[in-house]
Amino acid sequence: MADPLEHPGPHEFATDDAGAQPDVTQETAGESAPPEWWRTAVIYQVYPRSFADASGDGIGDLPGVTSRLDALVELGVDAVWLSPFYRSPQRDAGYDVSDYCDVDPLFGTLASFDRMLEAAHQRGLRVIIDLVPNHSSSEHPWFQAALEAGPGSPERARYLFRDGKGEHGELPPNNWESVFGGPAWTRVIEADGEPGQWYLHLFDTSQPDFDWSNPEVRELFRGVLRFWLDRGVDGFRVDVAHGLVKAEGLPDLELPEAGGSLGGSREAPIVPYWAQEGVHEVYRDWRRLLEEYEGDRVLVAEAWVDPLERVASWVRPDEMHQAFNFSYLMSPWRADALREVIDDSLAAFGGVGAPSTWVLSNHDVIRHATRLALGEDHLQGHGIGPKTQGLPDRMPALRRARAATGLMLALPGSAYVYQGEELGLPEVTDLPDHARQDPTWFRTKGERYGRDGCRVPIPWEADAPAYGFSESSSSWLPQPSEWRELARDRQLGDPSSTLEFYRAALRLRSEFALGAGELEWLSELEGERMPKGVLAFRNNSLIVVANVGADEARVPEGTLLLASSEVPDGLLPADTTVWVLPAR
Ligand code: NOJ
Repeated sequence: MADPLEHPGPHEFATDDAGAQPDVTQETAGESAPPEWWRTAVIYQVYPRSFADASGDGIGDLPGVTSRLDALVELGVDAVWLSPFYRSPQRDAGYDVSDYCDVDPLFGTLASFDRMLEAAHQRGLRVIIDLVPNHSSSEHPWFQAALEAGPGSPERARYLFRDGKGEHGELPPNNWESVFGGPAWTRVIEADGEPGQWYLHLFDTSQPDFDWSNPEVRELFRGVLRFWLDRGVDGFRVDVAHGLVKAEGLPDLELPEAGGSLGGSREAPIVPYWAQEGVHEVYRDWRRLLEEYEGDRVLVAEAWVDPLERVASWVRPDEMHQAFNFSYLMSPWRADALREVIDDSLAAFGGVGAPSTWVLSNHDVIRHATRLALGEDHLQGHGIGPKTQGLPDRMPALRRARAATGLMLALPGSAYVYQGEELGLPEVTDLPDHARQDPTWFRTKGERYGRDGCRVPIPWEADAPAYGFSESSSSWLPQPSEWRELARDRQLGDPSSTLEFYRAALRLRSEFALGAGELEWLSELEGERMPKGVLAFRNNSLIVVANVGADEARVPEGTLLLASSEVPDGLLPADTTVWVLPAR
């Protein structure tokens, strides 16, 4: 490790280009990269439609991603996870796939994917892509064939078609609801022009659920995995990884008692479509398939399940490699809650030999530069908008977000960063109704705003059209004018900027090997008990102190390497995190 005293302090950030990175093409990954890179990696989520638009149509694309890879190297992340870019009618921003083995013309071609992958590998960045196995688009040829073939056909058996209840089958087969609002069943018109069977869609009507008990479905996805592994991807983020298998007989959902959880209990799931035991066999099969490939390829579960012990069952040694830690994301900004979720995470994932992961933002939740300063009762996926009461002021909210990032990036394990959080982007809360595109907004008739507010295209250059997002001035969701000041070029080189804070944190995290470290809580510092509301721990040689409470605390003696906000006179104000190399 380099001499820590040579690290610039929080106000002396290096802004030069990142040094040479190892090439991580699959041929060389074994030699040049440490084994199991994913155990400590910082993985940056690219939401392609909002990242960079090279074609000028207002929607980001793969050539756009390629053109901005150097910025990710400069940021200091290890890998990129790309949300879907497959052929899709885009009814759920690409999570409705009509061809799993092709690129939608909106985003480019297979050749532009290959160029992007090669360019990323040349720069030392791994690439994980999104796999959407719970449902296809209703425009997928299999679903179209199922509609045509009629009840009882093998084509229908690839999805979950059922007869309705009631005298004429006019009632849905059970009481399940779509995650986006409204019923989870839609009735089809049969060839005779009459209403007939119903099909299940846990999400939008345009996203019919596959029947994973059908071997043909399993075979389809083995082929999809191979298709992308052969092209050289480093792994898959598996969408709705808790939902593929449904309970036998599709029984009604029994609503939990007050205080209960829809995710399940330690012993058994209570929701007949989430966290069924049968999903694990699918991932064991996929793990075996991945292991046929050279290099270190990974499966990452998007499993909205609790408690954490249950999530950990997705990452047992013969299943997936990582699972998103949504318990951490959902934690309120309170010292006791954070300490508990950190301990539970390390215990649960550690208990099965997997790294814990950490995440604060993604394309489905309110950006943490806004969320952490909201009350605790905002439901995941419901979103916020112009009519939401008590929206926080931007600067104190950003201050808290930076403190939260400082805490997260100091934790051992692997961390996820969502595009734009390194710029301190807040949730956009004033999108006009006509611009909204999230199916949640439509399915709830505007009762829930949904997720568009965290998906607005990100600003790169303050003085360019669409702030450098697009070659033209168009942007599929309007960008707020305040984002000019948040553009990457405005922040680069400004020591007080959020971007430089992230760069410094990522550089130090890597230099002090925090991802591979161990957390040891400190109840006192320099003989003084830690005030309530303050979290302090040691990770490798660093001491990390996060002031999550209202009272001021003290910055420990030593070299201050990182501060999420100013720490005047050695005092640690509320909503501030510091990383200190202690004096010996
Ligand atoms: C989870 C994805 O992250 C979300 O964006 C999508 O709408 C649903 N799964 C359905 O695929």
